[in-house]
Amino acid sequence: MSQLFRMTPESYKRLVKDAQSDPERFWLRESERLEWSASPSRAADKGAGWFEDGRLNASVNCIDRHLHTRGDQAAIIWQGEDEDNVVTLTYRDLYDRVCSLANVLRDHGVRKGDRVAIHLPAVADGVVAMLACARIGALHIVLFGGFSAEAIADRLADSGAVAVITANVGRRGAKRIPFKTTMDAAIKLRGAASAVRHVFVVSVTEDKVPLQEGRDALLAPLMDEAPSDSPPELMKSADPLFLLYTSGSTGKPKGIVHSTGGYLTWASFTHELIFDHKPGDVFWCTADIGWITGHTYVAYGPLANGSTLLMFEGMPSHPAPGRWWDVIRKHRVTTFYTSPTAIRALMAEGDEIPARYDLSSLRVLGSVGEPINHEAWTWFHDVIGGGRCPVVDTWWQTETGGAMISLVPGAVAPRPASATLPLPGVNLLLLDEKGQKLDGSAEGILCIDGSWPGRALTIWNDDALFRKTYLDPYPGHYFTGDGARRDEDGYFWITGRVDDVINVSGHRIGSAEIEDALSEIHDISESAAVGIPHDIKGQGLIVYVVPHAGLSEAQIVSVREQAVKVISARIGRYAVPEQIYVVSDLPKTRSGKNVRRLMRKIACGDKEGFGDLSTLANPGIVEELITAVAAACG
Ligand code: WT7
Repeated sequence: MSQLFRMTPESYKRLVKDAQSDPERFWLRESERLEWSASPSRAADKGAGWFEDGRLNASVNCIDRHLHTRGDQAAIIWQGEDEDNVVTLTYRDLYDRVCSLANVLRDHGVRKGDRVAIHLPAVADGVVAMLACARIGALHIVLFGGFSAEAIADRLADSGAVAVITANVGRRGAKRIPFKTTMDAAIKLRGAASAVRHVFVVSVTEDKVPLQEGRDALLAPLMDEAPSDSPPELMKSADPLFLLYTSGSTGKPKGIVHSTGGYLTWASFTHELIFDHKPGDVFWCTADIGWITGHTYVAYGPLANGSTLLMFEGMPSHPAPGRWWDVIRKHRVTTFYTSPTAIRALMAEGDEIPARYDLSSLRVLGSVGEPINHEAWTWFHDVIGGGRCPVVDTWWQTETGGAMISLVPGAVAPRPASATLPLPGVNLLLLDEKGQKLDGSAEGILCIDGSWPGRALTIWNDDALFRKTYLDPYPGHYFTGDGARRDEDGYFWITGRVDDVINVSGHRIGSAEIEDALSEIHDISESAAVGIPHDIKGQGLIVYVVPHAGLSEAQIVSVREQAVKVISARIGRYAVPEQIYVVSDLPKTRSGKNVRRLMRKIACGDKEGFGDLSTLANPGIVEELITAVAAACG
C-alpha cells in the first residue's frame, strides 16, 4: 500500500525521529510550507509565540500564493441543497471576493485587531468572510448556526465585535432559518452596550428582511462596487487570527484565541499528513464552519495546501437517504471527513443506500469529534471505503488547533476505533490522578508535553483562566480534559472527558452551562446535567431538576417545559436534553457536592452496583432517582 500514499512507514519514522531529536529545526523546516513576508528565524515558543519574528498574512497563504500555479483551479465547489444549484469559485474568484469583502470592511472602519462576528448557514460566503477578516487583520468569531440569540449576544459582548456578517435566512429543506432576525434580537439584548456598528447581510435567498438604517446593509451590492484588490495586512506570527468560543466546565463559554503563523503551520502540516493531500483532491469536511473543524479543515488547512474543497448546503438524508453519497459521486470527492454521529446515523439507514452510488473516487476517510465505536469504524471502512480507503480517526480539540492523534495513511497500521499514534512532534503523556506519569500500556489522564505550533494562545480577555484550565492542573504539561488508554504498541484509545463537559454529537456542552441556564427558572432550586451513552449521538444529555418544595402538581409539570424553553433560549435547540427528571433532591456527599458519577449510572438505567452509598448525605434519594428513570423509560 505504501506507494499509493505520500508517506511510507520509513519516511514517517524519519519524520517522527527528526521532530524528536531537533524540534527547533523540525518546526522551522515545517514553517517553510507557508509563504512569509519575513521568514522566522526561531521556531519554539519562547514566550512570544511560535515563529516569533515571522511576518505573514493567512489569506495570502490561502489564496494569493496559489494564483500563478492554480488560479483557474476550483478552490471551492459549493453544492446547494437544490441539485442544480452549484457554485464553483476558482482561486482567482476567491481572491476577487475576499478582496472585495476586505475592502467593504475597511470602508466601514473595521481595522486590524477589531473583531468581526460571522453567523451564516453553509454557504461559501462563510469561508470568504473568514479570509476577508484575515486579510485585514481583523479577528473573526464564527458563530455556530444553531446558537440562540442569547448565546450570540454573550459572544458578541465578550469579544466586543464591531461588525457582523450574517444571512437573510438559511435554507433547511422547505424551512427557512431566520438568521437576520436572530442577529437583530441578539444585538438588541445588550441595547446601547453592544459594540456592533455594522451588520452585513448575505442574501442566501430572495427573502426580504428588515434593514436598520445606518447599521445594516446587503453585502452583495457593496462588494460589487468595491475594488477586487486589497493589500493584505502584515501580521506577526503570534498575532491572533481568530477567536472561537467553546464550552468548558464553567458556565461561561471561553473565547479560544488562535495565532496566525503557528496555527496556519499546524493546519497545513496536519491536513497534508493525515489526509494524504495530493493535487487534484476534492476534499469534503462536513463540519459547520462554526466549529474548529470547520476552521482548520474546511477553510485554512485545505486552502493553505491549494486543495479543492467541497461544501454542501444540505443535510445527509434530505430530500432522501443517500444524498451525501450522491454528492460524493457527483463531485468525485476523494477525501471525506465527518463525525461518528453522522456515520452511525447513515449506517442505520442500511447498506443498500450507499450501494446505489459510485463511491470509487474516495481515497481517504476521516472521523472527528467523539470516540468512534468499532462497529461504525468498520462500516465506514468496509461499506463506504470499499475496504480500500484508510480511515483516519483524528483526535484533537478546539484548543489544539488541529489534529494531534491520527493515523497517517501509508505509514501507520490501522486499529479499528483507535485514533492510533500521536502525530510527529506531538508528545503525549498519561498521568494518574495524582499527576504521576504512567508508562507503557496504561489508562489515565491525557496530557501533552511541551508546546506545538497549533496550540491556542490564550482565552480572550482571560489569560488567567487559560492557565488555570490547561496549564496549572499538571504543571509543565497541557491538560486536555480527556482520558485515554495506551496499548502495548503505543496506540491511543480515547475514553472520553474526565471533566464535566458533555459531548453530544461532537458538540461540546458544559454541564455548568446547562445548570446556569436552569438556575434562571424560579421554580427550580437546583439541577444537574450529565452525559450518558447514546447509540447515535455518542452521548445524550440528561438533566435532573429539583423544584422548590411546596409547588403544586401543575407547577411541577410546567418545570419540564420551562427547562426546555430556557435551554433553547439561552444556548440553542441542540442543547435540549434527552430526558429531564424531576426529583426532590440530588445525591450529595456530606460536604454537599453532587455525586455525578451516581447520577450518570442511574440515568443509564442501573439499579444496583453503586458501591458504598453510606458516604452520601442523603442515601435515601437514590431509590427515588431510580424510580424516576424507570418510569420515564418504562
Ligand atoms: C473534544 C474536543 C476536534 C474537533 C471537533 C471537536 C472529543 C474529538 C475525538 C476523537 C475521541 C474525540 C474529545 C475532545 N474528541 N475528537 N477522534 N476521538 N474523542 O472539538 O468541540 O473542541 O471538542 O472532543 O473529548 O476533548 P471540541
